[in-house]
Amino acid sequence: MYFYLKKEYQILESYISDNNSDLILTYNVIKNCSKYLIDILKEMETQHLLKAEEKRKENYYTIRDAYNHQEVDYQELINYFDISNDIGSSDHTRLPLEWIKRAVYFIFLNKTCYNGLYRLNSNGKFNVPFGRYKNPLICDEENLMEVQNILKTTVIFQGDFSKSLNYINEESFVYLDPPYRPLNSTSNFTSYSTGRFNDDSQKKLAEFFKEIDRRGARVMLSNSDPQNQDEQDNFFDELYCGYEIERVAAKRNINRDAKKRGAISELIIRNYP
Ligand SMILES: C[S@@+](CC[C@H](N)C(=O)[O-])C[C@H]1O[C@@H](n2cnc3c(N)ncnc32)[C@H](O)[C@@H]1O
Repeated sequence: MYFYLKKEYQILESYISDNNSDLILTYNVIKNCSKYLIDILKEMETQHLLKAEEKRKENYYTIRDAYNHQEVDYQELINYFDISNDIGSSDHTRLPLEWIKRAVYFIFLNKTCYNGLYRLNSNGKFNVPFGRYKNPLICDEENLMEVQNILKTTVIFQGDFSKSLNYINEESFVYLDPPYRPLNSTSNFTSYSTGRFNDDSQKKLAEFFKEIDRRGARVMLSNSDPQNQDEQDNFFDELYCGYEIERVAAKRNINRDAKKRGAISELIIRNYP
């Protein structure tokens, strides 16, 4: 959505944020030193693809372990990027190699893990198993360069969604893409980070949506539609009563049961027609 908007419209100022520090780290590395990132990632791709299937699997778990055991001082990282946002500079070609390596691991795992999932266990360790792909494109150089180009004019920050309120006024358009509310008790995938995004979090986010509305900005939010599972479940209809709630057909393939992959209804909620 973000990259689409940046390509289609002339936007004066733009911001992205997420509370996943590694996602924000990766965006920052792409923004500031994609050349180094591409060199390292390309080499990793070559080494990986030279291996036969079983060896690739071993390699995947070695890299997953390295990612899970790498020590990162997130506070240092957050301070660093907050300062570079403040001074509006994107010329940080000498980010610590450890950070570049972490971004490389992050992309490598995303491209080689099962279904491109990102999931952490309760100890904060990435626990997605190996994905079987014939010929995964791990280092998509052209795409990474295009992303860098777009991120050059983007303020990127880590934190809870509430942190973005500072940047919102009546001229803003805000897109909220929260963890989807699980459709049933077995599909309880709400963990992109160690904290769970539960119904209370959805309610806090709805309050935030209303605050954005009061500030005069346009706001759009997407979420799962509980009525796929239970027609009587009006959780979001009640939470966002009075706003535009549109049900759209979406193709989803992140489901462990292949038969359940396909078009399902999802929600787009807006404060404008
Ligand atoms: C559906 S994903 C969207 C990711 C991203 N927009 C994308 O398209 O790649 C939901 C995101 O919400 C983030 N998240 C979870 N809790 C959050 C919070 N309290 N504040 C900000 N972001 C949060 C997760 O880290 C995850 O990246």
